Amino acid sequence: MVSTSLSNSTINTTRLTRSTMVAIKILCTSLNLHASASSCSSRHFHSYPSLFAISRIGAVWDISISVPPISSKRAKRMAHFIARATLGLSEPNKIDPPKISFAAKEIDLVEWKGDILAVGVSEKDMAKDENSKFKNLVLQKLDSHLGGLLSEVSIEEDFTGKSGQSTILRLPGLGSKRVGLIGLGSASATLAYRGLGEAVAAAAKSSQAIKVAITLASSEGLSFESKPATASAIAAGAILGTFDDNRFKSESKTPLLKSVNILGLGTGPEIEKKIKYAENVCSGIILGKELVNAPANVVTPGILAEEAKKIASQYSDVFSAKILDVEQCKELKMGSYLGVAAASANPPRFIHLCYKPPNGEVKTKLALVGKGLTFDSGGYNIKTGAGCMIELMKFDMGGSAAVLGAAKALGQIKPSGVEVHFIVAACENMISGTGMRPGDIVTASNGKTIEVNNTDAEGRLTLADALVYACNQGVEKIVDLATLTGACIVALGPSIAGIFTPSDDLAKEVLAASEISGEKLWRMPMEESYWESMKSGMADMVNTGGRQGGAITAALFLKQFVDENVQWLHIDMAGPVWSDKKKNATGFGISTLVEWVLKNSL
Ligand code: BES
Ligand code: MN
Ligand code: ZN
Repeated sequence: MVSTSLSNSTINTTRLTRSTMVAIKILCTSLNLHASASSCSSRHFHSYPSLFAISRIGAVWDISISVPPISSKRAKRMAHFIARATLGLSEPNKIDPPKISFAAKEIDLVEWKGDILAVGVSEKDMAKDENSKFKNLVLQKLDSHLGGLLSEVSIEEDFTGKSGQSTILRLPGLGSKRVGLIGLGSASATLAYRGLGEAVAAAAKSSQAIKVAITLASSEGLSFESKPATASAIAAGAILGTFDDNRFKSESKTPLLKSVNILGLGTGPEIEKKIKYAENVCSGIILGKELVNAPANVVTPGILAEEAKKIASQYSDVFSAKILDVEQCKELKMGSYLGVAAASANPPRFIHLCYKPPNGEVKTKLALVGKGLTFDSGGYNIKTGAGCMIELMKFDMGGSAAVLGAAKALGQIKPSGVEVHFIVAACENMISGTGMRPGDIVTASNGKTIEVNNTDAEGRLTLADALVYACNQGVEKIVDLATLTGACIVALGPSIAGIFTPSDDLAKEVLAASEISGEKLWRMPMEESYWESMKSGMADMVNTGGRQGGAITAALFLKQFVDENVQWLHIDMAGPVWSDKKKNATGFGISTLVEWVLKNSL
């Protein structure tokens, strides 16, 4: 039996509308699903009071109930119920991530049996002699088994090995049904090899292939150490290229690709380990993509919190989860974050996952903080006009998707020596009579006051309290990721994220991680003189400077909420979160975050 207490005022029963009742049911399912007791020591970690608490934020009743931990089978059934309770009755279909088995082998290409034998070729590999025959030995051998058709077709189709080029032929003469040449171009190694995997996945889809092999025309140029990393990038490309997010389509095909052999890059535990690593990172990337792709009527702050708890219960040996509701955030004086959430009928959820290594001592404590606006309408400064992208603002939780995707990957990789805090102040930026007005002054949890001169600069307001909270966990380094400013897209275009940090050391670490992941980052200046435009007549600061240098003033704002003795780096990923071409989330940030955490592990 649960007891009932009223916190602020009496229950206004007329407000217990149907949607509120749904909210009650949702919350019944969502609280206290701790994977393990809070093992991360922090003064903010306390268990939920075992009571039915009703509180009022503006005109919205936030009713939360604490229940004893429930069985995971029951939790799953209830999570299903949550997904059905969305506006518009959309329910994501369950799709399984690609299940492909990888094997690294050393066998003769001509003997290999399967559906597609794909060869990655550079422009150099395509060089031919005076008789129009390949100089490259691998291609020479294949071509002679195929009666010279490979060299002929490459001339006819003007196949030069550029990135994005591919030609797949259905031919007799080999163990494989089809043989393909895939251009590697001259992109950075990781990107080229991932592109190879993706191209093979695409070819497998169109020819309904189940078993494929992938090799390189010239792998002898690769060092012994770089071969496993190459195999890993190819595997990642194959997985991500096979994955299609069809959850909201009423009809979709299940991918057939089941087996990928990677030939000629060596065999043994080292390469197998790297392929396994790619699989783990990809499962995090797929989660991140799904979170960003799902619309705001499906992924609400409550659902985001549910997903975080799912990660914690799936990898309960290393994770604990803490979800704070409005009342608990009020106790922590998170006025800046709660100001943004105040107009919304979907209550905010402050998410905190803590990773601790399965054994051994912790040497470094890190925090990953992600912007988690499940929708950004702009608030009273509503997004209007062509190019404002309001219809895409479901992606404004891309930072939090990166953080949770990285958590999922790390739950499987289980690095030693690091403690990692995953923090998201999730909410919506909406409009209502209870919402924040332009000109309102809010007070963040470090006591600093902010005059909100633009309600559309909301991400930084939520991050302010999230960063203060992260610093209170006693971490040495913080990386935050946010779809923070349109200005950063203007500066760097759609595929490069801006990084901002006062710390050269941390910039180096994160840039080194991005070299491995292949994600594009560019360091931007933290020009202190631009702080001038962030001064307020009334409060400690405004939340928006002028149009010029908008990504920089946003970063300077965040810096106000970070302890000076904590190393901090901000990633503005407003551009790379979304691919306009593919009309899909990119999963940006996850592989770089995982690499960075591993750099800090032992
Ligand atoms: N979420 C947006 C930033 C954004 C815009 C991301 C376009 C991706 C595409 C953010 O909350 C925002 O609205 N920023 C404003 C800040 C301005 C009011 C200072 C912007 O960039 O216009
Ligand atoms: Mn905004
Ligand atoms: Zn936003």
